[in-house]
Amino acid sequence: MKIIGTGRANPAKIVTNAMLEEFLDTSDEWIRERTGMTERHVISNEKLEDLAAEAARKAIEDAGITPEDIDYIICSNVVNEYITPGLSCIIQGAIGAKCACVDVNAACSGFIYALDMADDRIKSGKAKTILVVAAEEPTRMVDWKDRSICVLFGDGAGAAIFRAAEGTGDRSDTGILATKIYADGSQYDHLCSDGGVSLNQKAGFIHMDGKEVFKVAIPSLVQGVEESLKIAGININEVNWYVPHQANLRIIDSVAKKLEIDMDKVVVTVDHHGNTSAASIPLALAESFAAGKFKKGDVIAISAMGAGFTWGGMVIRI
Ligand code: COA
Repeated sequence: MKIIGTGRANPAKIVTNAMLEEFLDTSDEWIRERTGMTERHVISNEKLEDLAAEAARKAIEDAGITPEDIDYIICSNVVNEYITPGLSCIIQGAIGAKCACVDVNAACSGFIYALDMADDRIKSGKAKTILVVAAEEPTRMVDWKDRSICVLFGDGAGAAIFRAAEGTGDRSDTGILATKIYADGSQYDHLCSDGGVSLNQKAGFIHMDGKEVFKVAIPSLVQGVEESLKIAGININEVNWYVPHQANLRIIDSVAKKLEIDMDKVVVTVDHHGNTSAASIPLALAESFAAGKFKKGDVIAISAMGAGFTWGGMVIRI
């Protein structure tokens, strides 16, 4: 299963740390030192469904295919305009595809979960060309008076097209070489929303015990990479790029140290995107492809961790 195209879309409005200083008891220095973030895109006049469709169209164009070629759409999303239908169906209608669609909500790990599903569907022969989109607007779920949360998030959509390809089943293959996903629901209340239509008929705000999540995030991100590399039979020294979930630069630094991978090989977008939940990895992939960072044959390790807790990793050769 090969990755044949990527696309991305960010809201037009950029909120800098200086802009946050205007209405919050915070500082550019605190945000940069504690998170590595300097700015983030925040949805305002746009609709998330339009950003998702734009990212999808760009990925389709990049792949050189038509919407009719797509035979399955998976969308990773936590919150959007509607409780139902799922965003995947809205994207399908907008781009003019004619295929089955499904949404997955695994929070910040959602893109990896979606790719794991796509990989299985292609391997089973049930699909040949799959569009995976992650579209997120966490800034609609934050209390803009809560400085410990609202500075951390940004919005955006990233998309990728995957196509079936014959492989030899060994480590010389291209495409997704291995995936490994995990969850531990026993600690869900460290990172969750306080609202829901059944609970209180409110959308709710994100609540996070930052220190607890920080502690869990580092070993989870390390495990995602180490276990998927093990399955792929690939050594960390053979990894050309590591694309982690973009939640905090200190977490990324620490994971890179534990994996013994040089920061020159780590894709960092948290500085200008903030934490865009499941969209962070496809946004980073699309940005890196567009910048010509990745070369044919490169091995890319990916890992993410988020609410649930969910986490996981994967290895791709392009
Ligand atoms: N500006 C200024 N001060 C702030 C602030 C802000 N935006 N947010 C919190 N503070 C203050 C706190 O009130 C606290 O003050 P106190 O010492 O007087 O009580 C101090 O800064 C330290 O807060 P703390 O929460 O301990 O900071 P931290 O170093 O743990 O960093 C996070 C906070 C959220 C950046 C960090 O815990 C984190 O990144 N957690 C993991 C997030 C993550 O990985 N999510 C992944 C899944 S989405």
